[in-house]
Amino acid sequence: MRTISADVNGLLAHYQTQINERLEEFFDKKVEEASRISNHTREVVIGTKEYTLRGGKRLRPIFCILGYKCLSDHNPEAIIGASISLELMQSSLLIHDDIMDEDELRRGKQTFHIVCKDLCERQFGKNKALKFGENIAIVAGDLLEAYGEEVLAKSPFKSEHIKKALATYAGIVKNVGYGQILDITAEREGSFNEAEILTIHKLKTASYTIEGPLHIGALLAGASEADLQILSNYGIPLGLAFQIQDDILGLFGSEEKTGKPVGSDIREGKKTLLILHALEKSSKNEKELIVKALGNERVTVEEIDTVRDIVRRTGSLDYSKKLVAEMTDKAVQAIKISDFRTEAKDFLINIAGFIGDREY
Ligand code: IPE
Ligand code: IPE
Ligand code: MG
Ligand code: MG
Repeated sequence: MRTISADVNGLLAHYQTQINERLEEFFDKKVEEASRISNHTREVVIGTKEYTLRGGKRLRPIFCILGYKCLSDHNPEAIIGASISLELMQSSLLIHDDIMDEDELRRGKQTFHIVCKDLCERQFGKNKALKFGENIAIVAGDLLEAYGEEVLAKSPFKSEHIKKALATYAGIVKNVGYGQILDITAEREGSFNEAEILTIHKLKTASYTIEGPLHIGALLAGASEADLQILSNYGIPLGLAFQIQDDILGLFGSEEKTGKPVGSDIREGKKTLLILHALEKSSKNEKELIVKALGNERVTVEEIDTVRDIVRRTGSLDYSKKLVAEMTDKAVQAIKISDFRTEAKDFLINIAGFIGDREY
């Protein structure tokens, strides 16, 4: 197990370096482009570069590269260049997500709208600085999404393959949109069940984190419908596992390791599987404590600790962990029986292990 994870870390680092170099080059060109318009556009684009390059696991571009490598070893440089489109999409979605979730920490530093709020305070004063920050962040997110499309559209692959990849890119962004609508409205709904939560996870996370990036890479290599189906059979369960693990880390993880605020899902009233099962299995008194904490802007550290205790005691944490393990297993089985190229298959199997065990 240890050697597998050492291999995965090595391979992840190998790709991360190459992806980061391409991102750096790309942003330098965009800063130049924006500098020709005004100092303000320049400053915002420099902000998007810092934000994108300050951290992140680069899983989406890596899955895109692996989707391609399942089918082809031709022109490896070109697929690395195209894969950054997924990281540009990621920056876009994260910036918007943090506005919606009112989070202030991302990748260990200030979220984009808070960076822009501070910029407003320095340049223009405190009046409506948060609104200013959010407005700039919304537009910066839109820019990044368009940058991602531009990268794909200009990639050196067959135009019929690029066309399909772009349609998939649009499909992913659409899925995240639908998923985020359900995620936001679920916070206001009284009752919710496991199937509803998994539908949200599938739309808002699995699609853009694993399945979609794999499809884009595979399509650029000329994938058939049957190839895409196998990648979905792997990508969807693994994407669900990824989000359930994200929710576990969001309550029990270390802020230092994840670079994200711990406990903010409670403050925000997020309907996670952890909360659903804890509510189902807890006593009347415990239920009241959870309901009191959930969605309470002034929830205290002690109250969040109480929720953690209940989630542990009711077996809800173990239930989520079990689901992560089962779904990771399902993903691994789906890829094992495929006849994709061995190099990519082995990496996909190992990366599934990393996702199920990750602490960040
Ligand atoms: C965060 O994704 C958003 C979710 C879908 C949970 P990652 O955990 O991949 O974030 P980075 O890119 O590594 O920062
Ligand atoms: C992740 O949503 C999905 C996105 C579209 C970014 P979350 O709100 O659950 O993710 P984190 O925990 O903030 O990264
Ligand atoms: Mg969030
Ligand atoms: Mg969110």
